[in-house]
Amino acid sequence: MLTAREIISLEHVGLQYNENRPVFQNVSYNIFTGDFYFLTGQSGAGKTSLLKILYRAVNPSFGRVKVFGYDVSSINRADLPIFRQHIGLTFQDCRLIEDLSIVENVALSMHISGSQYKKSCVYARELLDWVGLGDYLDSYPDILSDGQKQRVSIARAVIKRPALLLADEPTGNLDDDNALRLIALFEELHRMGTTIILATHNSQLIETFSYPRLILKNGTLFVGNVNKKRNAV
Ligand SMILES: Nc1ncnc2c1ncn2[C@@H]1O[C@H](COP(=O)(O)OP(=O)(O)OP(=O)(O)O)[C@@H](O)[C@H]1O
Ligand SMILES: [Mg+2]
Repeated sequence: MLTAREIISLEHVGLQYNENRPVFQNVSYNIFTGDFYFLTGQSGAGKTSLLKILYRAVNPSFGRVKVFGYDVSSINRADLPIFRQHIGLTFQDCRLIEDLSIVENVALSMHISGSQYKKSCVYARELLDWVGLGDYLDSYPDILSDGQKQRVSIARAVIKRPALLLADEPTGNLDDDNALRLIALFEELHRMGTTIILATHNSQLIETFSYPRLILKNGTLFVGNVNKKRNAV
């Protein structure tokens, strides 16, 4: 059951690819509007898979997942863009559109969400400047380093001020200064009301910021550093 403040509800959720051993099983947890979580766990623990379930790129094999009140398993393919309209995504592999300039890559995300293209380009330029890519606005993704691509991908995810941000290793290719700058950007977004789940291996980030942790380990989800009375695992 999803109440007004719950943005995500996981009920006995499991994921099994093909005939393989389940990646995780029996995960039950609720995430509330305005929460900020680190999602951690060893490589292969299922962080990316769990995020994929939340934006319905993968269907859970067991249990029920609700996001914004939608049961994700019952969303039609045709309705996916509407469902994802209020979700910002950053991927481990960035996935920029190679035929579009940097500024167009970022502006498109805002434009698709309903803003005028010209206005979207103005915001995109400001945001790219802020993430240190002001000299690359009209360049194409193929000349960027991996860390620069990652910063474009983050600008693209945050520009539309999504209700929910699912960030998969957003600082994986970044130096410490840029990583901290991007977390500051996420915190600003969080202050404006965005719910954030940030998958990361970066132990320095996790220790520096005292956000609660969702930990995938041994095929189940543990919760650390959170008021246990608020939410049962
Ligand atoms: N499409 C797929 N088909 C089959 N198995 C998959 C698929 N995607 C992921 N897996 C498997 O699911 C498990 C979890 O993968 P996932 O990418 O979710 O882990 P992760 O925690 O994000 O790892 P990393 O920290 O390396 O990014 C791994 O064993 C992986 O091999
Ligand atoms: Mg991953």
